[in-house]
Order: sequence, then C-alpha cells, then structure tokens
Amino acid sequence: MVAMMMMTVTRADSINYGEALRKSILFFEGQRSGKLPPSQRMKWRKDSALFDGSDIHIDMVGGYYDAGDNVKFHFPMAFTTTVLAWSVVEFGDLMGSEREHALDAIKWGTDYFMKATKIPDLVVAQVGNPYGDHDCWERPEDMDTPRTSYYITKEKPGSELAAEIAAALAASSIAFRTTDASYSNILLKRAIRVFDFANKYRGSYNNSVGEAVCPFYCDFNGYMDELVWGAAWLYKATKRARYWDFVKSNMQAANVSPFEFGWDGKAAGINVLVSEWVMNDSSSANLFIPNADALMCGLVGSPTKSFYYTKGGLLFREGACNLQNVTALSFLLIVYARFMEGVKKTLSCGKEVVDSKWLINIAKSQADYILGKNPLGMSYMVGYGSKYPQRIHHRGSVLPSLDAHPQHFGCRDGVAYFKTEKPNPNVLIGALVGGPAYDDSFQDSRYNPGQSEPTTYLNAPFVGVLAYLNKPNII
Ligand SMILES: *[C@@H]1O[C@H](CO)[C@@H](O)[C@H](O)[C@H]1NC(C)=O
Ligand SMILES: *[C@@H]1O[C@H](CO)[C@@H](O)[C@H](O)[C@H]1NC(C)=O
Ligand SMILES: *[C@@H]1O[C@H](CO)[C@@H](O)[C@H](O)[C@H]1NC(C)=O
Repeated sequence: MVAMMMMTVTRADSINYGEALRKSILFFEGQRSGKLPPSQRMKWRKDSALFDGSDIHIDMVGGYYDAGDNVKFHFPMAFTTTVLAWSVVEFGDLMGSEREHALDAIKWGTDYFMKATKIPDLVVAQVGNPYGDHDCWERPEDMDTPRTSYYITKEKPGSELAAEIAAALAASSIAFRTTDASYSNILLKRAIRVFDFANKYRGSYNNSVGEAVCPFYCDFNGYMDELVWGAAWLYKATKRARYWDFVKSNMQAANVSPFEFGWDGKAAGINVLVSEWVMNDSSSANLFIPNADALMCGLVGSPTKSFYYTKGGLLFREGACNLQNVTALSFLLIVYARFMEGVKKTLSCGKEVVDSKWLINIAKSQADYILGKNPLGMSYMVGYGSKYPQRIHHRGSVLPSLDAHPQHFGCRDGVAYFKTEKPNPNVLIGALVGGPAYDDSFQDSRYNPGQSEPTTYLNAPFVGVLAYLNKPNII
C-alpha cells in the first residue's frame, strides 16, 4: 500500500525528460532561416530570407535566427552549433530516435557555416542589419529590412568568430563520424582551414565589423578562449599534436573567466572538455583539472559560496537571460561527473567529499526547476507542462502565421500584436526563455526580453542535459 502510494506521488510529480528532450530539439526548427525542407515539423514557420548574401554574391541562405529577432548573428550561432554537437558526442547514444533530429539541427548550422567559410580567408560574420531589424516588429517571412552581410578578412580579422566556427565544424565532424563519414570529413577539412585563418590573422571582430555586431554580441573577454576552444576540438577530432601544444601553451591566456561558459566565455567549457584526456595525466592536468574542480566545488557551494541560488533553488547569475548560464553550467556538471566516473574520482570541496552523483543531482535540480518544480509551478519551456510562458518576446510567435494571415505585415504593422495582453498565437514548442528573476518571480511579458526571450544558445546545452537525464536509473 505504502509503496504504491509513493509510486503514484512520484509519477504525478515526475518530469518527462523524454518529452522535454524532443521539444528542446524541435525548437530549432522554429528558428530556421531560408528554404524549409518537406521534413519541417514546425509548420507555422515558412520560407524566409531567400536572398541573403546576394549583396556580397555569396549564397547565405539558411542558418538560424538567434533569438526573438530576425538577424543571423554568426558568433552565437556557432557556439550553439558547437554545443549541440557536443551534446551528441557525449549523449547521442542515449537519444534514441531523437539523435537523428539532433543531427538535423546541427546540420542546419554546419551547412550554413560551410557557405559562410566557402571563400578562403573570408568568413561571413553576420547577415541582417540589426538596427533596421530591431526597429521593426515583422515576421521573418515578411522581412523587408536591409539584409546586409558583414564579413571578416585578413586585413579585418575576427579571431573569436572564425575560431568558434572552426570549433563548431570540428565538433560536428565528430558528431557525424559514424552516420555520415564523408560529410564528417568535409567539415573537418574546413575546420582546419578556418582555424588557421583565425590564428594567423589575429584581431577581434568587435573592431573589424564594428557596430553591426557590438553592442549586440561583443566579444567581452577576448579571442584567446575561442582560439584554444577551437584547437581543443580540433585535437579531439584529429589527435594532431600541434593542436594539443596550442591548447597547453595558450590556456593560461584563455582562462580569463574560468567560471563562465556561454557564447562569450568558453574557459569553463575548455577545462571540462580537456579534462577527459588529462584526468590520468599528471604532467598536463594542472592547467585544466584544478580549474574544472574549482568550478564544480563552486557550484556545490563549498568551501565558498561562489554562486548564488534563489530560494526556489535556481542558480542565478547577474545579467539578462539567466537560464543561458544555468543550462550551460548544468551541461558541464553532467559531462564532468561522467569523466569523474570513468576514473573513479571524487572531489574535495572544503570539508565535503563530492562524488559524481552529487554533481548530477545539482544539474537535475536545475532541469527540474526549469521544467516546473519551482515556486510558481510553471515550466520555462514553451509548450511543455500545463503552465508556461504565453507572451514570449519573439516576432514569429507573436504575429499570426502566414497560414492565418497571408497578407504582408510591414515594418510597424506588428506593433499592435506586440502590445496586446493576449497570448501569442504560435507556440514555439521547446523554446526556453531567459527565465525568472533572483526572487523566483517571472514576468510573462514581451516588454521584458531578459526574462521572456528565447535564444538558440539557451537550448543547445539543455539538449545534452535532457538526453542524459532521460536515461533510466541515473541516480
Ligand atoms: C569588445 O567590445 C567590448 C565592448 O566595448 C569590450 O568590452 C571588449 O573588451 C572588446 N573585446 C575585444 C577583444 O576587443
Ligand atoms: C552568462 O553567459 C553569458 C554568455 O557567455 C556571459 O556574457 C555572461 O557574462 C554570463 N554571466 C555570468 C554572471 O557569468
Ligand atoms: C585512468 O585511471 C583509472 C583508474 O586507475 C582507470 O580506471 C581508467 O581507465 C584510466 N583512464 C584512462 C583514460 O586512462
């Protein structure tokens, strides 16, 4: 009797990680730009931006809109692709039939980056004038704002951008290795070329591209972390010593924000990625393992409280779009926990002896919070659970679709839809939003993009987290 009751309680409460995983990947179809394939499942989205790149005579049709606007910012798009690929590299075996959808989501990015890097010593940095775009509230399918293409060259370099694209191509080459060896080879060859370009012509795209990318996606903490991150992925993909040497000799310079992992800061990701192959190698472990250990102990909260958790239990960091940091750090917790399991390692965090299960439990608590176990009892994944954000800051979701409203909307014709209190007509299934404030409160309002806007780099690490949590009997 007692046992049965407990089971019922657990089930009623329980989170469906499999459903969340499926939806977290489906979301990427809602962000697609370009000509949509017949396999498109997010049906309210249609073809858009079919002439991108025509201003520079390079076919730049495709890729992803990065958030609730219609600009294709390649720097965060590349990070998104790298982390989606990492999710498949680590957890693809646990994804079941979702693995194929995850690979499609990666390929939508890598096919596009092959176009962006087609011409040697030139990398397209972005498509869409962000000022023109942000001035309008239009569906992607209607866009009539300037689709300007911006690019970097030898003379006007952008090492962070090119190196992150190299990382995305190298990581994806590993993700595709078993299912499509020839595509995998093509990606790897290009990754090698693009990394050389990034490394040889050094500089920040901040300066080379200027105000089209910064203040939107400024590279705040420098390009050394992207160069080392790119080299680490190339080493994992090729096992060539020159990449490993590059990683070791430049890590000190790259490690400026060791507790950060996101489209801007890669250091925490490098420390965890590299840990896999230095766990037993005491000679080069010192550059990486103590940093990764310190991050994990920080997240555990011992010996010092380096991270703040809300009363409801959510990891909270200053700045907009908090959940991007939560999903990315949760991913690192699980990946590192698995590497620890491989060598039967535990951590000494102050007085605490921390094992891999402890780290996985922290990541699980974050995922569960996001999916509804929180003081408001709401899910921060659109279309998951019975209560989720209804007024997300997202042009395509807010305006009626082409099916419902075939007539063109001009630049400001969508403003009334933005201002209404009504829920968005199109459900962007699987989208995570920026998430609640430090006091667990949440404003379901288009006027608060810091809380209500989805982004691709928010979802990408969550794909890996959910694939792992969906595995039976993990704890
Ligand atoms: C890029 O611009 C931001 C904002 O102005 C600045 O803080 C950062 O240092 C710049 N990064 C590089 C690598 O120049
Ligand atoms: C959260 O991640 C973003 C993207 O890397 C970064 O700009 C921001 O600084 C991070 N926040 C904190 C508090 O580290
Ligand atoms: C590292 O050492 C552990 C414990 O001796 C062993 O089980 C594991 O296989 C080793 N891993 C590698 C990558 O050599």
